Amino acid sequence: MGINPPRPLREDDDVNAFDCGQSSLNKWLQNHAWRNQQTGVSRTNVICDSGTGIVVGFVTLSSGAIERVSMPRKDRHGKPDPIPLTLLGQLAIDQNYAGQKLGHSLLFFALKTAKAMSEKIGSFGVLTHPLNEDARKFYLHYGFENIPGDTHGAMLLRMKDIEASGF
Ligand SMILES: CC(C)(COP(=O)(O)OP(=O)(O)OC[C@H]1O[C@@H](n2cnc3c(N)ncnc32)[C@H](O)[C@@H]1OP(=O)(O)O)[C@@H](O)C(=O)NCCC(=O)NCCS
Repeated sequence: MGINPPRPLREDDDVNAFDCGQSSLNKWLQNHAWRNQQTGVSRTNVICDSGTGIVVGFVTLSSGAIERVSMPRKDRHGKPDPIPLTLLGQLAIDQNYAGQKLGHSLLFFALKTAKAMSEKIGSFGVLTHPLNEDARKFYLHYGFENIPGDTHGAMLLRMKDIEASGF
């Protein structure tokens, strides 16, 4: 039994049993992800258990922007306002599959996708708004930085650093 590689969310995907321990993320996947996929405002990719076919993880990306004043001083110079970037909206793994490097794999998939897209659509970096301190530690582990000037607690990984890491 294994896990299939990430692929775009489908309307008939089995997401009802998904439980990452954060009800807002579970509900977002169950109630909003497909509608957002249809309207094009976000793109969700899922990983599924190859035996049961059920969704065991997902990650969501969109285009986004952040007000220049929210950014550290060193990042403001010579940039438009707002500064374009890639928004990592949601990333979660079902609790039954935690600790198997699936979050790592989905994050790398997202960074690779963001880097590839940034060659066609400008993006200063990947921005996310972690739900809680536990999630914040996960992103810190991968080099995301807190953006203290952002009132929503954003974290950022700059595209130049993603590139320097070989993505
Ligand atoms: C955070 C989450 C995605 C991690 O997924 P996971 O598959 O269990 O994590 P992985 O097995 O891929 O862990 C990869 C690495 O991250 C580390 N890690 C995992 N969760 C961590 C956390 N909360 N804090 C710090 N490090 C963490 C692991 O120790 C591991 O480190 P290593 O490579 O040095 O061994 C998952 O726990 C989850 O879905 N949580 C609930 C939803 C959530 O908060 N999502 C993020 C915000 S939107």
